[in-house]
Amino acid sequence: MIKVAIMGFGTVGSGVYEIIRNNEAGLERKSGHKIDIKYILDIRDFDDHAEKHLFTKNFDDILNDDEVKVVIEVMGGLNPAYDFSKKALLAGKSVITSNKELVATHGTELLKIAEEKNCNYLFEASVGGGIPILRPLNQCMAANNVEAVYGILNGTTNYILTKMFKEGAAFSEALAQAQELGYAERNPEADVEGHDACRKIAILASLASGKFVDYKNVATEGITGITKNDVAFASKINSVIKLVGYAKFDCDGKVYARVCPMVISKEHQMSDVSDVFNAVMVHGDFVDDVMFYGRGAGKLPTASAVVADVVDAVKHLGRRVMIKWEEPDKNIMLDPMEIPTKYMVRTTNPMLVNGFIGASMIGNGKGENGTEYAFITGLVTEKQLKEKLGAADSFIRMLPEA
Ligand code: HSE
Repeated sequence: MIKVAIMGFGTVGSGVYEIIRNNEAGLERKSGHKIDIKYILDIRDFDDHAEKHLFTKNFDDILNDDEVKVVIEVMGGLNPAYDFSKKALLAGKSVITSNKELVATHGTELLKIAEEKNCNYLFEASVGGGIPILRPLNQCMAANNVEAVYGILNGTTNYILTKMFKEGAAFSEALAQAQELGYAERNPEADVEGHDACRKIAILASLASGKFVDYKNVATEGITGITKNDVAFASKINSVIKLVGYAKFDCDGKVYARVCPMVISKEHQMSDVSDVFNAVMVHGDFVDDVMFYGRGAGKLPTASAVVADVVDAVKHLGRRVMIKWEEPDKNIMLDPMEIPTKYMVRTTNPMLVNGFIGASMIGNGKGENGTEYAFITGLVTEKQLKEKLGAADSFIRMLPEA
């Protein structure tokens, strides 16, 4: 019998409890051990809970109990999650988390402690919710050098953009609907400004390259500036707009990473990923393209990934699951301003198109500031593009071709 503790009894924590209680036999068959919950840590009272005796407000109960071998951190936020996770790992307990902010910020240190203490720090649920992506990237694709990893990593923004394309909603209307349905927070900044996707692509890029990609170095833009005309122009070229987390690796170990809205042709598999669903594409040098698709958020999908990590940690007690990245000894980030890309430009000046070699006009439409025109540029760097654009012009990147 292996005893585990759940830290945080919110949406994901209660989902983890439910899965462990409802699938005892399956988890035992897959891990080789009966898995039992010994503590649930939460600052709130759960006096009406059927197993209220499991609840504690004192982290030391968990830390000082040698019987607890696996700690499940689903509290969210940096503190006290960082402090608790570090102490648990230093005590030789494996830690499982869904906390992307913590992994993206302190993952390097926590992975190192896990290695030194011969236990495991696992975080499958931190990217793509219920989608298996980190383990496949790390294990099933281990024969490959990953050349690019990118995807739709945020369900809230994907829901909003889907509404804008399928129902002609404006950004503000679609956001209000997402909030009504409980997908978007009252303060939606972390999702709509791309911060959530930024942490997720930083984790994916770190794992894929084996070198820590600091999310603070990932150029990030959200979707708040996307207008009905952007939607109309993208539709005219048989495309959609998605918030994409993108990372590409060159053979010198350098990384190009960014989060931004991208225009994606309807011929690309990711264009069909709608509503709150997520998808991650991985391009390996031997396997070519692999796509992972599923629910990127929600109680049971996220808890499903957390519990899979619990099973892995239990299977590997006293042994390491090889998951790691290292702090690079030099800057590995390529300057995103210097990467040649194609753009969809929206402007009130139809002559602007003439300044770009290989550009093609999409058309025009009535916008907030009169008639607007849109065109696709040839390959130019963002630096070159910005030298030509006026203050009122805007652009959305095209998804780079493989
Ligand atoms: N807020 C996130 C999303 C869910 O909308 O995808 C958890 O990462």
